[in-house]
Amino acid sequence: MVTKTSPIGVIDSGIGGFSVALKMQQMLPHENLLYFGDGGNMPYGNHTADEILTMTRYMLRFMEERGVKALLVACNTISCLIDRYRDDMSCPVLSVVEAGADAVSQMAVHKVGVISTCFTHSTRCYPDLIGKKAPDKEVVSHGCPDLAKLVEANVGDPKGQEVIEEDLKKNMDELVHKHKIDCCVLGCTHYPLVSENINHLYPELPLVDPAVQMAKTIGAYMEEKGLVNDQPGQGTLDIYTTASVEEYREKAAKVGLKVTSVQDYPIFKL
Ligand code: DGL
Repeated sequence: MVTKTSPIGVIDSGIGGFSVALKMQQMLPHENLLYFGDGGNMPYGNHTADEILTMTRYMLRFMEERGVKALLVACNTISCLIDRYRDDMSCPVLSVVEAGADAVSQMAVHKVGVISTCFTHSTRCYPDLIGKKAPDKEVVSHGCPDLAKLVEANVGDPKGQEVIEEDLKKNMDELVHKHKIDCCVLGCTHYPLVSENINHLYPELPLVDPAVQMAKTIGAYMEEKGLVNDQPGQGTLDIYTTASVEEYREKAAKVGLKVTSVQDYPIFKL
């Protein structure tokens, strides 16, 4: 049975979900978080739908066994497919794509840019969902083949900033200068981790980080269900990874997360 102190699960292919965990620690600091990053299999965005579903099932089982009170799918690529598993889970499952579409639908903008992995782009989940919620908006979606992987490898490393900014320009110049988008949804959870680089390149461009809406939605759900964790101190953050524990500990610290533990977990090999 879940209780107020049960953790909230957060899943991603790698460290992208750290951007969601960060917003959770800022906006709902008393909640305990249980994070799974499948770094050994990332990038998910270059896999097929069947492969992504298989790897996701492994993470969902992990979360189910640990009795999370809610699950945040902190990966846009997985969120595009998560409806197939929603009914198999005993807790509510929140999609970061839904959160991003909700957030931008409420904004007074017309032309919405979305950058994401190539898989997310290919499903058209953002244009379709935004189109349903706010039919007056025009959506220009773009898939970035390498950006998530470059962020995973270089986040917080001064030597890696140039390569990240080069790739950002390659992917975003046309959206900003030709399509003249009014705002840009960061449709991959790795991208908010380099929002300072995006602000540096395009200082006038408003960015939408879906994690803010996700934290608001889960906060409202827990209020409604009487599941808010009312412990006085900072909640725990336990991270499990199929990649290097050392690297995850270092990167979590670099992005500013308050971490309780980092442990390894056997990889699911395709
Ligand atoms: N962070 C993930 C997302 O939001 C994807 C990165 C990957 O391709 O593994 O889509």
